[in-house]
Amino acid sequence: MDLAELTKMYDFTGKSVVVTGGAGILGGEISCALVGCGAKVALLDRDPALADRLMHRFESAVGEAIVVYGDVLKKESLEQACKVIVDAFGGVDCLVNAAGGNKPEATTGPDRPFFGLSEDTLRFVVDLNLLGTILPSQVFGKLMAAKGEGVILNVSSMNAFRPLTRVVGYSAAKAAVNNFTQWLAVHLAQECSPRIRVNAIAPGFFLTEQNRYLMLDKETGQPTPRGQAVLNHTPMGRFGQPEDLFGAIFWLLSPASSFVTGVVVPIDGGFSAFSGV
Ligand SMILES: NC(=O)c1ccc[n+]([C@@H]2O[C@H](COP(=O)([O-])OP(=O)(O)OC[C@H]3O[C@@H](n4cnc5c(N)ncnc54)[C@H](OP(=O)(O)O)[C@@H]3O)[C@@H](O)[C@H]2O)c1
Repeated sequence: MDLAELTKMYDFTGKSVVVTGGAGILGGEISCALVGCGAKVALLDRDPALADRLMHRFESAVGEAIVVYGDVLKKESLEQACKVIVDAFGGVDCLVNAAGGNKPEATTGPDRPFFGLSEDTLRFVVDLNLLGTILPSQVFGKLMAAKGEGVILNVSSMNAFRPLTRVVGYSAAKAAVNNFTQWLAVHLAQECSPRIRVNAIAPGFFLTEQNRYLMLDKETGQPTPRGQAVLNHTPMGRFGQPEDLFGAIFWLLSPASSFVTGVVVPIDGGFSAFSGV
């Protein structure tokens, strides 16, 4: 191994990557980083207009990007999206399942006891995070199976290892995403090809639209009591930035991790390692 060989592993020139939730905060930043490293990236989202804010960042990048409509909960729409992507890029080498999220109505609170949480909202959150990972893995994984190689990377969460208070459906769904990551890694390696890998990252606390005002006071910008509790339990003492995800993502998508499958990598500033004492 020398520096040129190491660098080559992280050169995504010509590689085709689908990022679900590619118009979102983390999915968008992941897409920009991949295009910056030469990849052809399809940002798949249910509202492609949300990706408009990113388009200027692709103009002078070495790779290329397209924005494709797709709903991760509708297999037919994913199959349509798959056709568009194969026409544009010739195939799919990697899939990043970044679409996901929580809803306040699926968390408990003073006015929302567990016993009365809406069935519809709980089902929505579990479906979005779990089924929204499984269905794209079926559609794009099938292409990988036919080719005998590929990489799937799921986006899990800290909630998956130990559930956070109040967060019922999202924690259960992300725990299931971890389980599915292991299941699919074994299934594809044994049934299809040992050159198809499936892994996940579990981000800790990143300030995004979904959680900003749970973590920071709207008026003062100072941590809320919950935000301060997170910081107190994060040995590195800060929230994550999207760039903090890139090293693990590039490693897991690249041949640098060619013997790694079925793992979930925490990217959490030490949150999951800290007992609190
Ligand atoms: N932010 C964090 O601190 C954090 C921590 C751990 C894990 N994560 C995970 O990281 C991933 C990205 O999170 P984020 O914070 O970047 O959230 P985000 O900005 O809301 O991004 C999610 C994207 O997925 C899209 N989406 C939702 N439902 C969809 C569907 N049915 N089909 C296709 N696209 C759909 C959203 O579109 P709409 O805006 O139209 O809904 C949005 O563009 C999620 O899986 C999340 O659970 C985030």
